[in-house]
Amino acid sequence: MTQANGKTSEGTKATAVTRAPAKVRIEGLYKIFDVGHGKVTALDNVNITIPDGEFLCIVGPSGCGKTTLLRILAGLETASEGNIIMTQRDKSKPMNSMIFQEQSVFPWMTVQDNIAYGLRMRGVDRKESAEKVDFYVRKIGLLKFAKAYPHQLSGGMKQRVSVARAFANDPEVLLMDEPFAALDEQNKVLLQEELLRIWEETRKTVIFITHSIDEAIVLGDRVIVMTAHPGRVKADVRVDFPRPRKVYELRAQPKYGELAYKIWDLLRDEVLKAKREEGTE
Ligand SMILES: Nc1ncnc2c1ncn2[C@@H]1O[C@H](COP(=O)(O)OP(=O)(O)OP(=O)(O)O)[C@@H](O)[C@H]1O
Ligand SMILES: [Mg+2]
Repeated sequence: MTQANGKTSEGTKATAVTRAPAKVRIEGLYKIFDVGHGKVTALDNVNITIPDGEFLCIVGPSGCGKTTLLRILAGLETASEGNIIMTQRDKSKPMNSMIFQEQSVFPWMTVQDNIAYGLRMRGVDRKESAEKVDFYVRKIGLLKFAKAYPHQLSGGMKQRVSVARAFANDPEVLLMDEPFAALDEQNKVLLQEELLRIWEETRKTVIFITHSIDEAIVLGDRVIVMTAHPGRVKADVRVDFPRPRKVYELRAQPKYGELAYKIWDLLRDEVLKAKREEGTE
């Protein structure tokens, strides 16, 4: 067991136990930022248990601490209090990889070198790395662009490369912070379906942040709804549509509309609260 705060897992408080073994346990997590004039509580006692292989989506109003939570999970930020417990199966592979909203590809590297980056850093041999790169370049439909540089690609293509790079790196947990938010609707749907296909083959544990209720339902096994600042877990909604899923087939189902309404109903007050706090309403 590894923990973000370096403590051992013994002696931590028990949280709700799910049937599948837990891959990630977030226990009593607080994050308080010191800002010149005082303190900002970004996360306020967040508890989430994520079973191995689950696709978890998190929605919440702007400023509720979603990125902060992901950054703590990625080890880019420390928690003020609480524990993150991740169960690692294979120490030779990275624990997690993060995909950001902004395109996170290296502009000076070709598509194939971007995808191979994590593998090279881990010292994976050339042949294995080349095979993996070839597999993912095909998977994301960029075979013709394997030797192109990011400035020669569209925004959607660049996000495809980020997704391929994260999966090729073979982390145990994928952390995705609104990776498709900047894309147009059609490209978004194509990428969502691509992500679903790759995920269905690999069944990695994914924590995916989005502002879109639609996206959360299409992708997730479960949707966590967070409160407005300071961020807490408000609700935990199961999405039990069968897989494989197709975005528009799913949207056509009455159950889909009911679920979207249920989540919006939970989220609405929080969004209004966040707007009042910002002084925009
Ligand atoms: N480095 C920091 N220093 C001080 N305050 C911060 C820092 N990072 C985030 N915050 C504050 O923490 C709160 C949560 O921010 P965060 O970026 O996690 O929200 P978010 O839910 O990701 O928002 P959005 O949906 O707009 O991306 C906000 O009030 C923000 O101002
Ligand atoms: Mg954010």
